[in-house]
Amino acid sequence: MEQRFSRDSRCFKTSRIFPTDVNNHNTLFGGKLMSYIDDIASIAAHKHCRRSVVTASTDSVDFLSPIHTSDSVCLESFVTWTGKSSMEVFVKVVTEDLKSGARKIAATSFLTFVALDENKVPVEVPDVIPETEEEKKLHESAPHRAEMRRIRRVESKKLASFFTMKYPWE
Ligand SMILES: CC(C)(COP(=O)(O)OP(=O)(O)OC[C@H]1O[C@@H](n2cnc3c(N)ncnc32)[C@H](O)[C@@H]1OP(=O)(O)O)[C@@H](O)C(=O)NCCC(=O)NCCS
Repeated sequence: MEQRFSRDSRCFKTSRIFPTDVNNHNTLFGGKLMSYIDDIASIAAHKHCRRSVVTASTDSVDFLSPIHTSDSVCLESFVTWTGKSSMEVFVKVVTEDLKSGARKIAATSFLTFVALDENKVPVEVPDVIPETEEEKKLHESAPHRAEMRRIRRVESKKLASFFTMKYPWE
């Protein structure tokens, strides 16, 4: 199986914040940012394996600072680590105050995508080679996050089997 560099999957997306994108605090609506994150992460995963991919999970989205209408928002995404058919993708969200140029890390997120073959069956993906300090740090710490995810998945399945599928009015 061939190998790819993290840089091969790296992508960026920069946007303005429009009035339709904000919440009642006049800052970027969290759901909008989550949609941007899933969107760009899916492109990084797709670029890494050149296969169809699905989002298997999002570990968390940590909103570190509000994003104002005077800011630009720049998302960076790349594959940090791979399992057999799964890929961990990191997303970093950097805002820039367009007047002053001041930048902040507004959010970070880890997502897992799974590559699927023509029959929608999980299929092996290339390994990833980290090069920069950021990429190496994320690559080294990934097995621990993957193990946490495995435990969470078992717990989620257990919990799902406990819940009723009945609607309240039934
Ligand atoms: C993700 C999915 C394809 C996994 O299929 P599956 O039959 O459970 O496959 P497996 O158990 O063989 O797991 C395949 C890989 O996915 C990983 N995986 C599955 N569920 C996961 C989860 N919740 N979080 C992280 N990784 C997960 C497994 O660890 C495995 O990784 P590996 O091949 O690198 O070892 C399947 O659960 C699915 O289709 N889910 C819905 C995805 C979707 O619709 N996303 C959009 C949401 S709107």
